[in-house]
Amino acid sequence: MSWGLKNRLARILNSQTGRTVMLAVDHGYFQGPTTGLENPRRTLEPLIPYADSLMLTRGVLRTSVSDDIRVPIVLRVSGGTSILKELSNEGVTTSVEEAIRLNASAVAVSIFVGGEFERQTLLNLSRLVDEGERYGMPVLAVTAVGREMNRDARYLGLATRIAAELGAHIVKTYYCEGFSKVVDGCPVPLVIAGGKKIPEEDALRLAYNAISEGAVGVDMGRNIFQSDSPVGMIKAVRAIVHEEASVDAAFKLYSESRKVMHVERTVASAESAE
Ligand code: 5RP
Repeated sequence: MSWGLKNRLARILNSQTGRTVMLAVDHGYFQGPTTGLENPRRTLEPLIPYADSLMLTRGVLRTSVSDDIRVPIVLRVSGGTSILKELSNEGVTTSVEEAIRLNASAVAVSIFVGGEFERQTLLNLSRLVDEGERYGMPVLAVTAVGREMNRDARYLGLATRIAAELGAHIVKTYYCEGFSKVVDGCPVPLVIAGGKKIPEEDALRLAYNAISEGAVGVDMGRNIFQSDSPVGMIKAVRAIVHEEASVDAAFKLYSESRKVMHVERTVASAESAE
């Protein structure tokens, strides 16, 4: 691994805790204006100060993120399909050269193990790893789960291990029962996605369990930006990932932040009515 690649990885994984809170806001690349992300700039602005990195496409980066931010960018570089078609039919949409131009700290590519286009997506990953090694650019493999796949330890263990074998530097997967087995079988750091929006306390428990069982962090989207208090939620997730907070303590942090947000909104709407 070159110095440049290691340095880029170190931007993403916090040097003190070795962990990371990645904010995933790339959903639009296949599902369009996702709830909570209709206006990416508006969603992102209050959250950026709390994210260790942002995972997004070049389109959202260019249009909706100010160029003076210091948060590392994990650039989504696979796509080419939509929710209306077979999701696994992805290609590489953005070159490593462009990722360097955009000052990205890593590129992200989905693999669909068991999907119709499994081979194509595994070769996308392999090609990006080759290029990434050439230019010092880490590759995050997203183990995307097709509609027909079970998110269990056997399947996720298979997908994460294949990603690591093909050279991914970080792997993103889902939390599942028996997650520590998935961690054991994957020789590179694992982060978990949050998945569909669930109650805040449950999402915090998911993050807590994943970290306790060996994940180095989260790459979470909907359970943060679709929360009734996105800032409260990202602060709570940070407390779990970086400060070993319990689920109760993190939930309290979220609830307090939510209360403050409601008070601020009430004051602002009273002032605008005057
Ligand atoms: C899509 C992705 C998303 O970034 C991922 O699903 C993370 O977001 P969420 O926490 O909303 O599941 O990689 O393939």
